[in-house]
Amino acid sequence: MAAKNFLFSFVALAFLFSVSASEPKPLQDFCVADPTAAVKVNGLVCKDPKLVQANDFFFSGLHLEGNTSNAVGFKATPVFVAQLPGLNTLGISMVRLDYAPMGINPPHTHPRATEILTVLEGSLMVGFVTSAPENQLITKVLKKGDVFVFPIGLVHFQQNLGSRKAVAIAALSSQNPGVITLANTVFGSNPRISPDSLAKAFQLDKSIVIMLQAKF
Ligand SMILES: *[C@@H]1O[C@H](CO)[C@@H](O)[C@H](O)[C@H]1NC(C)=O
Repeated sequence: MAAKNFLFSFVALAFLFSVSASEPKPLQDFCVADPTAAVKVNGLVCKDPKLVQANDFFFSGLHLEGNTSNAVGFKATPVFVAQLPGLNTLGISMVRLDYAPMGINPPHTHPRATEILTVLEGSLMVGFVTSAPENQLITKVLKKGDVFVFPIGLVHFQQNLGSRKAVAIAALSSQNPGVITLANTVFGSNPRISPDSLAKAFQLDKSIVIMLQAKF
């Protein structure tokens, strides 16, 4: 009976860990990142807690508009652990998103985070696509004050279909969510993936692949 209980506990524990979508629970009040440390851990080494200051938990600048003068008309201003060392081990971060009229945050995924977004100005058409085999597009038009969640790992995007600028703020469930922008990853890798491979994979003429590779 004891053995059975033990087995059940073990299975329950394994299940708990396997479905956990958040980063590991901190083992101390905080662990302000020390970017100068030579030691590498899963996250960043902690600064001496006695030397910690308020500025280690602080970032200023999300009131500033991002520069959207680029091909996609979009700019993200991240507040990840690289910008705010106090986020280290806390499993959370933030980003400001600016969109020119028709500007788009192109299809991308965050390998380590779910994202919850709210519109501060303007409106946004947002969406994500579920995994195979359904590949269902879940999409909605958001106005100021609306909130939308993009589940971890799924490909998603936002576009400003309005004639004025749009602004959103999003929170992410990782200190370092990672961004994989599909076009840049596929057509802009370094070194390039063979154009013949991409032509076959995407069922495109090789000349189109070469054109796309020149863009990204
Ligand atoms: C915005 O970015 C563009 C393109 O990089 C640059 O030419 C322009 O000077 C920038 N504008 C501001 C206000 O920084």
